Amino acid sequence: MMRATAATTIQTTPSYSYLTARKTMTPSARTIKNHRMDNNNNNNNRRRRRGELLQIVSEGTGRFIVGGNWKCNGTRESVKALVEALNKNVPNIEKNCDIYCCPTFLHLPYVKDNLNERFNVCAQNSWVEADLVDPEHHYDSTTGAFTGEISAEMLEDLQVPFVLLGHSERRTLLGDTDEIVGKKVAHARYHGLSVVVCVGETLEERENGTTFDVIFKQLKAVAKEIDDREHSSWGSSVVIAYEPIWAIGTGKVATPEQVQEVHSKIRSWLAENVSEDVAKATRIQYGGSVNASNCADLAKLSDIDGFLVGGASLNGDDFAAICNASSVHYKAVGR
Ligand code: PGA
Repeated sequence: MMRATAATTIQTTPSYSYLTARKTMTPSARTIKNHRMDNNNNNNNRRRRRGELLQIVSEGTGRFIVGGNWKCNGTRESVKALVEALNKNVPNIEKNCDIYCCPTFLHLPYVKDNLNERFNVCAQNSWVEADLVDPEHHYDSTTGAFTGEISAEMLEDLQVPFVLLGHSERRTLLGDTDEIVGKKVAHARYHGLSVVVCVGETLEERENGTTFDVIFKQLKAVAKEIDDREHSSWGSSVVIAYEPIWAIGTGKVATPEQVQEVHSKIRSWLAENVSEDVAKATRIQYGGSVNASNCADLAKLSDIDGFLVGGASLNGDDFAAICNASSVHYKAVGR
């Protein structure tokens, strides 16, 4: 199998002009100031600079992105109705955000053929063999005698541009370890897919103070597998969805303070462990009981770059309203 690049194989919607958007981005003044402060290369200063960075890179520069995770829901009839409801909403949806919808594998071809191209389609998973070791980080032996599985190669063939990986339901119910999620990310990137990687803590982990240990471990497993540290490989193609498990499907939303704190720590982790450019460009979504009524308050946070929506994404009008929180976000951060 030849290596495919995102540029050659993945059709994105006309609105998904990330590169164009990036050219027009201005880094926040605070960040520029920080760069100017840094002109000494000795180790102490480098360490100090990292310390400063942890507080200063607290805002992304990427386009707002909203995803609808349809999970294991849908009949042919209900999926058709949802596609129609979403298509009807296209004229009401602002042009300033990227959108993806994740139907089941079974409904994916139908949705891809019938959903307006304003929406990207996204698979809910792709697989790699757990025991495979590949120093080149391709994990490219995923078609063949693996009954019941779907490979990133097949998603590439179907021109599905996104895949959701490491959702907590897969981690907790279906055995996806941090290590497997990292391999899945590497394999999907190798096949040119953009990935949305979910991270997040359980209620118990939050209560015993290990939220950041858990999330950083999940991030580390992904960072380890992305061998190309170039900007294009991370920032434009890897989206992180912070989804506290205790907030998923429970109606219990994380507070704006909790979301901001985690997002800014994720960004700082990226700055320190990958690069400053990646930290700024990586979109960090929040997911967990987001709906049409609570999205505006969350969208005002400087460090939120979008939402991953479960239940409310099954309603076309509500999902469109959540996508439009992008305007609230841009206004709040002055973009
Ligand atoms: P929810 O699900 O919006 O229903 O809480 C979010 C998710 O699991 O992605």
